[in-house]
Amino acid sequence: MEGCKLSKGVIPVAGFGTRLLPATKAQPKEMLPLVDKPAIQYVVEEATSSGIESLLLITGRGKRAIEDYFDYSIELEEELESQDKKELLHLVRQIGNMAQIFYVRQKLQRGLGDAIYCSREFVNGSPFAVLLADDIIEDEGPELKQMINLFERTDEMMLAVHPVPPESVSQWGVIKGEKIGEGLFQVTDLVEKPAPEEAPSNLAIVGRYILKPTIFPVLANTPPGKGGEIQLTDALRTLVKEERILAWQIRGNYFGVGDKLGYLKANIALALKRKELSSQLRDFLQEILSTTEEKRNHEEGD
Ligand code: G1P
Repeated sequence: MEGCKLSKGVIPVAGFGTRLLPATKAQPKEMLPLVDKPAIQYVVEEATSSGIESLLLITGRGKRAIEDYFDYSIELEEELESQDKKELLHLVRQIGNMAQIFYVRQKLQRGLGDAIYCSREFVNGSPFAVLLADDIIEDEGPELKQMINLFERTDEMMLAVHPVPPESVSQWGVIKGEKIGEGLFQVTDLVEKPAPEEAPSNLAIVGRYILKPTIFPVLANTPPGKGGEIQLTDALRTLVKEERILAWQIRGNYFGVGDKLGYLKANIALALKRKELSSQLRDFLQEILSTTEEKRNHEEGD
């Protein structure tokens, strides 16, 4: 069956970012830079280059910097113009024109499911994509675009997954699925952050979803689950009994930037891809690794 065109996207950004404290005490975690761009920009760029025309950012208190970032910076632009800094001016201007962005506040942080529920009026009966800003995926063609292409052919809801070590399943939503193609599964069950012995597989949900408005009445009736929060995974678990949901195994490199180690790894990996930084950064990493190694050998020898 032919699905309809998908042009709306939702990005929840209301979370506290506790795993990155104290850096996130007075600024949104989504504004922390990955090399030279805030993390949220990577996700917005993935959405727009996947054909998403309007985006809803679900914000909360303390997230004003995100709105300012995607707005025009009139004074800064005037300054750059007067100094004839054309490249920088272009860079700054195009951020303000990146997408049509709407904002709504999630007044109480009651979980991802509740955040998504705040998008029902924006979505207004259309299918929509959800992108979680903690999850950065680096791929030749945007991962979301590939999912949207499949959705436009199948008209079936979808979420992205990737295999994780069995001992770390409790940090993720996990699916049970039947393989129906290369890197494609039909979801038969989902569990939010299961204990390793209860996990139905090691296929963890990555923050890219294609949902239909049928999720909203289910979310409205989903009681708080893991962590006392209304979980999107729990709503999808109810919905999968009635509607087909596919799981798309991502092809790109995944970085979870919501915690310190993932954030550092993403910075290094993304910087190594930059022509102007890679060779010096590589030299520095080799140097620092060999110095650390020498120091460790020396200490062990003592
Ligand atoms: C959320 C979802 C979880 C998913 C994860 C991906 O959890 O609830 O199912 O696996 O995002 O990043 P969070 O990381 O917000 O706790």
